[in-house]
Amino acid sequence: MKKWNVASVRASKGVERLGCCTAYDSCFARLADEAGVPILLVGDSMGMTMLGYETTLPVKLEETLSATAAVARAAKNAMVVADMPFGSYQCGDDLAVANAVKCIQAGADAVKLEGGARVCGLVKRLTEAGIPVLAHVGMTPQSVNEYGGFKRQGKTREAAEKVLADAKAVEAAGAFAVTLECIPAELAAEVTAALKIVTIGIGAGPVCDAQWLVMHDLLGLSERVPSFVKQYAHLADEVRTAFSAYVAEVRGGAFPS
Ligand code: KIV
Repeated sequence: MKKWNVASVRASKGVERLGCCTAYDSCFARLADEAGVPILLVGDSMGMTMLGYETTLPVKLEETLSATAAVARAAKNAMVVADMPFGSYQCGDDLAVANAVKCIQAGADAVKLEGGARVCGLVKRLTEAGIPVLAHVGMTPQSVNEYGGFKRQGKTREAAEKVLADAKAVEAAGAFAVTLECIPAELAAEVTAALKIVTIGIGAGPVCDAQWLVMHDLLGLSERVPSFVKQYAHLADEVRTAFSAYVAEVRGGAFPS
């Protein structure tokens, strides 16, 4: 199998729907890669899934770089996308480009950043510098303080027009795909029909070109899961059972035998 890249992701539109997910370490990245997941996102959701924070905001670039390198070492066929954390691209475009270069040098094939029209200049610069960009519009979790919580976006016609305009703007700036997070399904369908690039939905209904799920939600490892998530396994139960059995066997002398 050939490694997924910008060209093959672009070519998948209208041909094949891609089930993509996050990954934050080599162990799970290897399993997802072997299972055929086409895109592994080293999401800043690691702040919540791996690091115990309430939001994605505290994630540092160094944490993203270390996780990206771990995922990239394991991903043989999947495209690896580094999610630029809050603060790594808000302090001027020169610093943002330098930080995106660090992501690529850590092993990412592309970077993801949040925002529509307001990040278009940066999307253009990164693309021109040879750094593929996966954009992210709709509910952008790094704006949680602006929203006052993780709230569905694009609910009024005016708000929907803004999401559509943002998606068109990042496409025009050179993004090869765009994440549509937590927007009404009808709006996601409208955006998907309006764009030539691949839309990757999360909490945005079935009519997108591809889907994301956070790996810990998909595998049943998260404490709380959003209502749109489908859990394909319940690993938390299995892991707890294995730990309890181990503790009990050591306590009772059954292990080591
Ligand atoms: O960090 C993340 O998990 C994301 C989602 C859109 C998949 O950005």
